[in-house]
Amino acid sequence: MEREQIRVVGISGSLRPGSFTKKAVMLALKGAQEQGAEIEYFDLATCRVACDGNTDDDGYPESVNHLRQTVKNAHGLIVGTPEYHGSFSGVLKNALDLMGFDEVQGKMIGLVSVAGGAMGGIGALASLRTIGRHLHAWVVPHQVAIPFASQAFDQNGELKDTKLRERVLEVGRQVSQFSYLHHSAAAQKFLKAWQEATPNPGGEHAF
Ligand SMILES: Cc1cc2nc3c(=O)[nH]c(=O)nc-3n(C[C@H](O)[C@H](O)[C@H](O)COP(=O)(O)O)c2cc1C
Repeated sequence: MEREQIRVVGISGSLRPGSFTKKAVMLALKGAQEQGAEIEYFDLATCRVACDGNTDDDGYPESVNHLRQTVKNAHGLIVGTPEYHGSFSGVLKNALDLMGFDEVQGKMIGLVSVAGGAMGGIGALASLRTIGRHLHAWVVPHQVAIPFASQAFDQNGELKDTKLRERVLEVGRQVSQFSYLHHSAAAQKFLKAWQEATPNPGGEHAF
């Protein structure tokens, strides 16, 4: 049986040229690619449109449709954010608000954050995990917060700390692996068989 092609899309909540968040997202995408996923980075700078609360498809420019379609077509997402005032960035919140269940429900999500300070964006990650739950996505337990971002990367944009680098790659690998488990025909077949299985012969009083 031919293995389904898993697609993983990365987005970053920082539009800053030279952004460390983008570097972290690209690294996690590399991890996803190692596991056979087709990867794409979606630059949120292409759709700097504020969510005005309109949930219809009409009224937004093509760039927003492009974002929605790109995420909708993916099986998994890498979501990266800078820590801004103890949480994730407004750019990222806006992008998430421009989407909803249609695009995100059932998707696997991996989280990475960077911060100027020692906490590495742990507050941002906690907030994003809550949002993932509200969008009915599967946020993988493994996540990475990168502290002291301005010193964390070398001149080539590589994370200096090899263990941290490995952990970011692992975020992407897990998104790819769990996306596959979630969507593969074999997994779906098992789920169907399980749902249709004979009820416990012990009956409702069995424990
Ligand atoms: C508006 C703003 C708020 C910030 N708030 C925090 C913060 O609460 N904690 C922290 O450690 N760093 C904070 N920083 C620093 C950023 O996390 C840091 O510069 C990070 O590298 C930005 O991500 P980027 O390199 O992807 O642009 C803040 C930066 C900005 C611009």
